[in-house]
Amino acid sequence: MRLGVCYYPEHWPESMWEDDARRMKALGIEQVRIAEFAWSRMEPSPGEYDWAWLDRAVDVLGAAGLKVVMCTPTATPPKWLIDRHPDILPVGADGRPRAFGSRRHYDFSSPSYFEASRKICTAVAERYGKHPAVAFWQTDNEFGCHHTVVSYSQAAVQRFREWLKARYQTVDALNQAWGTVFWSMEYRSFDEIDAPVATVTEAHPSHRLDYRRFASDEVARYNRMQVEIIRAHSPGRPVAHNFMQLFTEFDHYKVAADLDIASWDSYPLGALEEQWFAPEIKARWLRSGHPDFASFNHDVYRGMSKLPFWVMEQQPGPVNWALWNPAPLPGMVRLWSWEAFAHGAGCVSYFRWRQAPFAQEQMHAGLNTPDNRLDVGGNEAAKVAEEIRTVLAANADANATIRSKVALVYDYEAKWLFEIHPQGADFHYPRFAFEYYSALRSLGLDVDVVPVDAPLDGYSLIVVPPLPVVPADFGARLANSGAHVVFGPRTGSKTADLQIPANLPPGALTSVLPLRVWRVESMRPNVTEAVRLAGGSDADQQDGVARHWRDFIDTENADSLDVRARFADGHPAYVRGGKFHYLASLFDDALTARLFEQIAADAGVKTQALGDSVRISQRGALNYVFNYGDTPHTLTDVADGAFVIGSRVVAPQGVSAYRRS
Ligand code: GAL
Repeated sequence: MRLGVCYYPEHWPESMWEDDARRMKALGIEQVRIAEFAWSRMEPSPGEYDWAWLDRAVDVLGAAGLKVVMCTPTATPPKWLIDRHPDILPVGADGRPRAFGSRRHYDFSSPSYFEASRKICTAVAERYGKHPAVAFWQTDNEFGCHHTVVSYSQAAVQRFREWLKARYQTVDALNQAWGTVFWSMEYRSFDEIDAPVATVTEAHPSHRLDYRRFASDEVARYNRMQVEIIRAHSPGRPVAHNFMQLFTEFDHYKVAADLDIASWDSYPLGALEEQWFAPEIKARWLRSGHPDFASFNHDVYRGMSKLPFWVMEQQPGPVNWALWNPAPLPGMVRLWSWEAFAHGAGCVSYFRWRQAPFAQEQMHAGLNTPDNRLDVGGNEAAKVAEEIRTVLAANADANATIRSKVALVYDYEAKWLFEIHPQGADFHYPRFAFEYYSALRSLGLDVDVVPVDAPLDGYSLIVVPPLPVVPADFGARLANSGAHVVFGPRTGSKTADLQIPANLPPGALTSVLPLRVWRVESMRPNVTEAVRLAGGSDADQQDGVARHWRDFIDTENADSLDVRARFADGHPAYVRGGKFHYLASLFDDALTARLFEQIAADAGVKTQALGDSVRISQRGALNYVFNYGDTPHTLTDVADGAFVIGSRVVAPQGVSAYRRS
């Protein structure tokens, strides 16, 4: 458990560096990430490297006792490189190259960029790979930021054709898999296939899904190239990438497989403003962020990181990039930091040391104001550093893993598929996965977020948000786990080629749950359908409502199936078969939580209803309590002597941690 910071020595006069390093250390910061955007200073002209300034910066930080996270600078190719190789620029859906003048202006499929990246990564890794101050690496910066995964360049199309050849072997197999006979879209060779863009009406969905899969694989290939170079020149130093909250255009599991550390960039207020949340939810959590949003991402990245995951960038104050940029309530920077540790983070690194007075992010806070005084976030970071020392002194195993009893399956392809083929305009996969997660957290449960191919043994409850494509062995693996399993609607609704399964949804899962979804409907945002639980309230009352979507379920095989809830029109809304539970819609939050509570009880998992603003986590020997709300929360059954942070009264925006008895 330690703190870090993101620092840009190239933004400040060299005369400030030593004082900056000294103050970082005094604040309790132990590691400093540098250089991810510094290519134009590392190589001001083609082949002419200038390492002198960076050598001095690394030496200054090292001399102050700080560990350096060195980055490859490939998120910002310099102007001279673009002018030499204009094919580096990615091409938008409108067929136009995106321009130089911001960042991430590169195409993952450009051979010139692959080569140029190889060169600069090798140069940086050779120069700093064995420097005693360099302890870690970061590849690039936030793959996928600003929608930069998918490019429609000729280079991308060329590589896509190769990718298709490898996947289908023959063009006939591809025609069959996609169903190109529809609208006479049949191809005679792979070379006839273009990018699925600029068509008159929607392009073929299977074509689009494969293009997204291809683009995702290109990111993994590009990252792997960088990781291999770093490992060759810097043995023993862990390599990270900083993923970004919900940048889901590529499969994060595949990229993380090549890394040692999956880290992510946590901006709770920016995320709330930018994501799907309703206006009243945005207003409710305006200055604290949604109580489950950062946690969800902590659990996502913990699940794919070989070493403890990190928060590589932690919001320190107002950001600049959302439509509105509120200031966090006092205490929130501390709360977010502890929440990350409570979910298993090895490091929380603040973005950035000092607010820049120039360029795009001049309105983005740092730990220090532009005139170099410690800002609110800086003071809270200092407090966290002090508390870390206290916690570690009392509990050597404070950060030890606790195996959760509950797993939530999270998948990237599902997001692309529903985006391509939504059937209802607001069918938004990350949102629905998040809502299930949030319901589990409101019951006081720790959740492991896992990929669909993860080992499932040891879980008592497995929740599967809408997952259209399921592996053939998924049902068997779920059954073998012995857990209770909850499926969201549309699970098993498509084959890997994006066709309707021959036996209708849930396709391969009928082996464990023999129902048949014979019709579906999507619902406008202002339309809901009443849901009544079997044996529940009076016939004229409802227990909750269904939103967004309905699967119409045929339970002809009714012997093994039990209809536990119905829609007002009598169709099944929740069907149970043994330990398998199928939800035919997305219910309101309260009903979702109520059902999860019942199913958890059946699975032998203890819950406690926390409401919407208090959250708890177990880690190592400690229990953590976080209060996102406006009123104090008092813990009753804990001995006063057990607290290592805070006390039994958890103030608004407060944190308490106590040793479990
Ligand atoms: C991140 C990015 C940083 C900085 C930050 C501002 O997404 O990695 O470079 O732009 O946002 O909040």
